[in-house]
Amino acid sequence: MYRTNTCGELRRDHAGQEVTLSGWVDKYRDHAGIVFIDLRDRYGKTQIKFNLEDNSDTQKLARGLRYEDVIQVTGDVVARPDDMINPKLSTGEIEIRVKTLKLLSKSATPPFVIDQADLPNEELRLKHRVVDLRRPELQKAMILRHQFTKLVRDYFDEQGFLDIETPILGKSSPEGARDYLVPSRVHPGCFYALPQSPQIFKQLLMCAGYDRYMQIARCFRDEDLRADRQPEFTQIDVEMAFVEQDDVLSVIDGLIVRMLKELKGIDYPAKLPRYTYADVMERFGSDKPDMRFGMELHDLGDIAKTCGFGVFSKTIESGGRVRGLVAPQAAEKYSRKMIDELTAFVGDYGAKGLAFFRVNENGLDSPIAKFFDESHQQAIISRLGAQPGDLIFCVADKQSVTSAALSALRNRLGRELKLYDPSSFSCLWVVDFPLLHFDAESQRWVAEHHPFCYPHPDDVALLTTDPGKVRAQSYDLVVNGYEAASGSIRIHDAKIQQQVFDLLNIKAEEAELRFGFLLEGLRYGAPPHGGIALGLDRWVMLLCGYDNIRDVIAFPKTQKASDLLSGAPSEVDEHQLKELSIKVDLPEELS
Ligand code: AMO
Ligand code: AMP
Repeated sequence: MYRTNTCGELRRDHAGQEVTLSGWVDKYRDHAGIVFIDLRDRYGKTQIKFNLEDNSDTQKLARGLRYEDVIQVTGDVVARPDDMINPKLSTGEIEIRVKTLKLLSKSATPPFVIDQADLPNEELRLKHRVVDLRRPELQKAMILRHQFTKLVRDYFDEQGFLDIETPILGKSSPEGARDYLVPSRVHPGCFYALPQSPQIFKQLLMCAGYDRYMQIARCFRDEDLRADRQPEFTQIDVEMAFVEQDDVLSVIDGLIVRMLKELKGIDYPAKLPRYTYADVMERFGSDKPDMRFGMELHDLGDIAKTCGFGVFSKTIESGGRVRGLVAPQAAEKYSRKMIDELTAFVGDYGAKGLAFFRVNENGLDSPIAKFFDESHQQAIISRLGAQPGDLIFCVADKQSVTSAALSALRNRLGRELKLYDPSSFSCLWVVDFPLLHFDAESQRWVAEHHPFCYPHPDDVALLTTDPGKVRAQSYDLVVNGYEAASGSIRIHDAKIQQQVFDLLNIKAEEAELRFGFLLEGLRYGAPPHGGIALGLDRWVMLLCGYDNIRDVIAFPKTQKASDLLSGAPSEVDEHQLKELSIKVDLPEELS
């Protein structure tokens, strides 16, 4: 038997017992002939003690132990004297007096020490992920991830959902990113696409009568990566038949409330708050507002229109907007130099400038205050509800720029001014997204989510008259400023589907080619249906309080979509290419 107990298990009650533990050598301390080692496994650490003066083989072997060696020890559990108790370890009340030691595996010198405060760069850690995965932070993520998926499966099972797998080798799916393609050997020149999501298959399952489906589904998207995106990631994918939007949201409300309670001990109201897209865009400038703090955006258009500051009044004349926000008690905290830095920051979101005013007892203090008479100054103060000591920021531009710039500024100021507890959670629904948006570059309507979202029942008539105004029955779940889930009620009516395809300029042949098998499924008795997908990785990241999705994935990929551990992607043998009838033709600069 390799072990009688784990390294996280022993307590004072075990004192006097003989135990056998196996694990990795963590810390190694030599105090004048007494060697202390923290023995580690995924359950915790236990201090083991060798007396080197006793010249047995075991003690000689102990002297040669190094970080990450794998050993087995047998010895007695001894209660530590009160002044030697280590409250940081769950096993801190005891230690093991080792009688026999066996070296199970000698480690090469590890590339880094895993328990150090300042970790080496991520590249090195990803390359040596096996060692990195022994870190407590990553263990916490893997364990939480498991608890989450278990809870998800139990929850949906209780609600009568069936877990059904859908193909990985399939046809291009419509989520809008680039596909990862897999060449077919049997059909030379043909390719499978890895699923960007199980979207079409889950809709087909509804048509087939499996009215409550769920799957923990791997999705693949060849898109630009960021800290919260991976090229392969996992969705908790859900679809339901004979439902309205409210039914889908209620099922997910139940899941989130249970998950926050069981995994984080947080009591959340049974129904998550719902906001319309129009409302959050106006109040926060973003469709994924972080509502752990206030600092809402305010419209200053009417005041700007008649003020003496040309930038403001001209923006209003030309149909733009002037909006502002108040950074509470920040007037003294932000120097001119820091404000210049914030101006450059909003510049990245398209803002051509950032007006600022320090609020004092008499009014506004700013290089541009002279352009605002007393009544305009008071109007700004009262519109924003500002207090002396506050700092006001305004952006004048077209609506989309004011939203993008001020929402980014809001997030940054909220963080810098510590306006919220980083361990708190704010979950909310954003509903009534627009169905389409007009893409200026390609001069055409594009689906906001995907082409199968059902328009809001009140807006169907607008499809022909004012498509930009049509709301979709689609919804996002936003957590701490992240999009944590997204879904919609789907079109099950061929006529409306055709209208949407027409608007998106998807011709009948193209629709048939891309989604023919869905349209075919919808033809033979399609129930009204809808669903949602939660981003599992993002949820685990949020639950762990991390800001990088790679820290919650066992074997993640880099920003450049490489796996540094295995070296994927890599070149393949000539004969493999030949079998697949593939010739590689690299542009000159890459060959
Ligand atoms: P969507 O594309 O919005 O919807 O994806 C659903 C959720 O998946 C997560 N997510 C990602 N997580 C990590 N890395 C990525 N690259 C990534 N892309 C998306 C997000 C997102 O909210 N089929 C629809 C769902 C539906 O309509 O039912 C879909 O895939 O948290
Ligand atoms: P200028 O007249 O360009 O020297 O700008 C005077 C002040 O107004 C500076 O603080 C600018 O950052 C600010 N400003 C300029 N353009 C805008 C704008 N579009 N929105 C908000 N503030 C602006």
